[in-house]
Amino acid sequence: MSSVEPNIVASKEVLDGLDYWRSLPIKQQPIWDDLAEVKLVSETLSTLPPLVFAGEVDHLRTRLAAAARGEAFLLQGGDCAETFAGANADQIRNRVKTVLQMAVVLTYAAQMPVIKMGRMAGQFAKPRSSDTETRGDVTLPAYRGDIVNGYDFTPESRRANPQRMLQGYHTSASTLNLIRAFTQGGFADLREVHNWNKGFRSNPANARYEVLASEIDRAINFMAACGADFEALRRTEFFVSHEALLMDYERPLTRIDSRTGTPYDTSSHFLWIGERTRELDGAHVDFLSRVRNPIGVKLGPSTTPETMKQLIDKLDPEREPGRLTFITRMGAGKIRENLPPLLEAISSMDALPLWITDPMHGNGITTPNGYKTRRFDDVVDEVKGFFEAHREAGTFPGGIHVELTGDDVTECLGGSEMIDEEDLATRYESLCDPRLNHMQSLELAFLVAEELGRR
Ligand code: PEP
Ligand code: CO
Repeated sequence: MSSVEPNIVASKEVLDGLDYWRSLPIKQQPIWDDLAEVKLVSETLSTLPPLVFAGEVDHLRTRLAAAARGEAFLLQGGDCAETFAGANADQIRNRVKTVLQMAVVLTYAAQMPVIKMGRMAGQFAKPRSSDTETRGDVTLPAYRGDIVNGYDFTPESRRANPQRMLQGYHTSASTLNLIRAFTQGGFADLREVHNWNKGFRSNPANARYEVLASEIDRAINFMAACGADFEALRRTEFFVSHEALLMDYERPLTRIDSRTGTPYDTSSHFLWIGERTRELDGAHVDFLSRVRNPIGVKLGPSTTPETMKQLIDKLDPEREPGRLTFITRMGAGKIRENLPPLLEAISSMDALPLWITDPMHGNGITTPNGYKTRRFDDVVDEVKGFFEAHREAGTFPGGIHVELTGDDVTECLGGSEMIDEEDLATRYESLCDPRLNHMQSLELAFLVAEELGRR
C-alpha cells in the first residue's frame, strides 16, 4: 500500500482572503521608503521553512481548550520587546528557566497542568504611541522594534529597514531551536527546576512562601520514593508567541497546511492582537480571523460587552474551544469595575473564551527621574482583582501574561528586594516596557499560587 501524504490545496477564496487586509485600514506599520525591497524580502520570507509545524499549533489549541474549561492554566511570559542582541544563550536560558520555575509553583498550587508559553522567538515588533520621537531639536521615526529599525537615535538606525525582517526570522529560528533543546534535552527536569527555586527561598523576605515551597519538596520526595517515572518529567512542552503586528512579516510566513488546506501563520504557535490594533474592521483582526492558530486579543479598560461579542463573532465564529483567548489589561484601579460586565455578558453567550490577565500594560507610570516603570504592588493588585472578578462571576481565571526577564534587572518598583526609584538607574535594560526581574517573577508566581489555592 502506498502511503501518499495528503496534499490538499487551498481554494482561491481562502488564498485571496489572506490578502484582504491590504484593502482595510491598518495601524502601527512602518513607513518603508523602498517598497521594491519590501517585496523582495517578502518573497524570500515566503520561501523559508516554517518556524512551527501546524500539528504543534493544533496541539496547543487543545491545551488552551482545556484551560478555557478550567482544566489547565496558562503561563505566558517574556520580554516586552525581544532584541537581536538579547538572543544569546545566557539570556534565553534565564528566561526559559524563570518560566519553568514559575510553572512548578503554579502546577502544584493549581493541581492541574500549566501550559508554558514564552513571549519569545518573534516578539520583535512594537506598537508605539507616536510615529516619531523628538530629542532636543531632532525628530526621527520612533523605534518600532528590532524587526523594523534600530534603537540608536540616528537617521540611519531609525530608518525602517526591510532586511531586518530576515534577521527577525533567523533570530526567531535560533531562539526557538535553543528553547526546544532546553525543554526536550533534560534541562527542564522537574527535580532540577525545583532545586533552582531554593535560591528564592533563601531570601528571608520570602519566608511567607516557605510552607508552600516545603509542600512541593515533600511532593517531589514522595514521588521519588514511589519510584515515579522521572524520565518522563525530564521533558516539557513549551510554546512560543508574539504580537502579530508587522503584516509584511506575518503574511509571508502564513502557509497552507497540506493536510487540511487551511492557512497557519507559521511564525509562531500563538499570536495575539494588541490593544491598539484590534478594530473590528481593521487589517489585523481580518487577517487573524483567517488563520488556524489560537489567537489572543488584548482587552483594555474601554472594552464594552458589545465590542467583546463582535470580536468573538469575527475571530471565533465556530465557537471552537481553545481558539480565542482574551488577555485583559485593565489596570489595578479599574479591573474590579471593568472586568465584571464582560464576564457577566459572556455567561449569557454561547462562547467559551480563555480568560487570562496581563497585569502589566494597564499599570505603567513614569517616575520623577524619568523612568517608565510599574509598581510590583499594582501588578499583584490587578492579578487579585482578576481572580476576585472570576470568583464572583463563576468563570475560570485561566492564566497570566507577564513581561519578565530571567536577569536581575531593576525596571519595576518593589518586590521582596524593595527596588526603589533610585535603584531603577542601576540596571534598566528594557528598550520598551519595564519587566519583572527573576526574583519578582518568582514572587508573583507564589502570589498567584495562593490565589489559585483559594479558588
Ligand atoms: C505588549 O504586550 O507589549 C503591548 C504593547 O500590549 P498592549 O497591546 O496591551 O498595549
Ligand atoms: Co509591553
